[in-house]
Amino acid sequence: MARIDHIRDLAPNVRELTLCLVEPGPSALHFLAGQSIAVEILLPENQSQTVRYYSLASPSIQSTRFTLLLSLADQGVGATYLFQQSEGATVQFQGPHGIFYLQEDKSQQILFIATGTGIAPFLSMLSSLLNNATTIPVTLYWGLRSERDLYYQAELQALADQYPCFSFVTTLSRAHQGWSGATGRVTELVARLPSVDGLAVYVCGHQPMVNEVSQILREKGDCPIYREQC
Ligand SMILES: Cc1cc2nc3c(=O)[nH]c(=O)nc-3n(C[C@H](O)[C@H](O)[C@H](O)COP(=O)(O)OP(=O)(O)OC[C@H]3O[C@@H](n4cnc5c(N)ncnc54)[C@H](O)[C@@H]3O)c2cc1C
Ligand SMILES: NC(=O)c1ccc[n+]([C@@H]2O[C@H](COP(=O)([O-])OP(=O)(O)OC[C@H]3O[C@@H](n4cnc5c(N)ncnc54)[C@H](OP(=O)(O)O)[C@@H]3O)[C@@H](O)[C@H]2O)c1
Repeated sequence: MARIDHIRDLAPNVRELTLCLVEPGPSALHFLAGQSIAVEILLPENQSQTVRYYSLASPSIQSTRFTLLLSLADQGVGATYLFQQSEGATVQFQGPHGIFYLQEDKSQQILFIATGTGIAPFLSMLSSLLNNATTIPVTLYWGLRSERDLYYQAELQALADQYPCFSFVTTLSRAHQGWSGATGRVTELVARLPSVDGLAVYVCGHQPMVNEVSQILREKGDCPIYREQC
């Protein structure tokens, strides 16, 4: 069981929840960066339960507190239930689960590709890589809709300033006039990659995006592609 310690609204439909483990349950959460937990969701109509998976966005060394990123864009039962919870509320969960975590091959350059809250596992993976003093080039392509949907830009820029091996591109698919950054869907960035030689690619977010990115990469050549199944 975990208690919601802090709620932060990052964008109109995106909320960051910081949770703290409470008894009964494990006294520490041991997970690999990129893994997720299954959160118990109480269904309103008949008070029965279901589960929804959420990626752990915080560093994997932080074992009693962890962070989730939620998108309410779909207005589904899981996200709606979690958005209704206040600080101090408790949630039940199982896990960690999943095989979406950093692979050991150190000879590859890493490319993370995300849309929306699909950034969550990559935040944890980035912490692992950068805290372990990686020298492998790591690039993040992140697709969001418009300026109002932007979040974590300052944090990512701070990492890029501190760690020369890390760079990122945030691309807006519905940018307004005056946005000087990249525009278009994240798939357009992938299509412009000159080559996939030496790349290990991790993809997370909308399932159609994951499929399209995989297809574009395969047309360019052979590289490992690790996909989170939504
Ligand atoms: C391993 C894993 C990790 C994940 N990590 C994250 C994460 O970090 N952050 C995050 O935001 N999400 C994450 N997800 C997705 C998350 O688990 C949920 O699937 C997501 O929050 C949507 O669930 P929901 O219950 O809110 O929506 P659901 O109620 O399941 O609805 C899903 C979609 O179906 C539509 N729908 C539902 N019922 C109907 C109906 N009767 N008729 C027509 N359409 C309908 C909804 O509008 C919505 O578009 C992850 C998923 C997996 C598998
Ligand atoms: N581990 C996981 O599996 C995991 C983790 C976190 C989140 N998720 C899921 O990821 C999704 C993120 O949703 P969100 O609401 O945060 O994002 P969003 O705001 O709906 O979309 C962000 C961006 O994705 C683009 N996009 C949509 N479909 C695309 C496609 N087929 N190809 C390329 N780009 C596409 C959008 O472009 P347009 O403006 O053109 O639509 C927009 O630029 C949610 O469904 C969430 O549940 C999964």
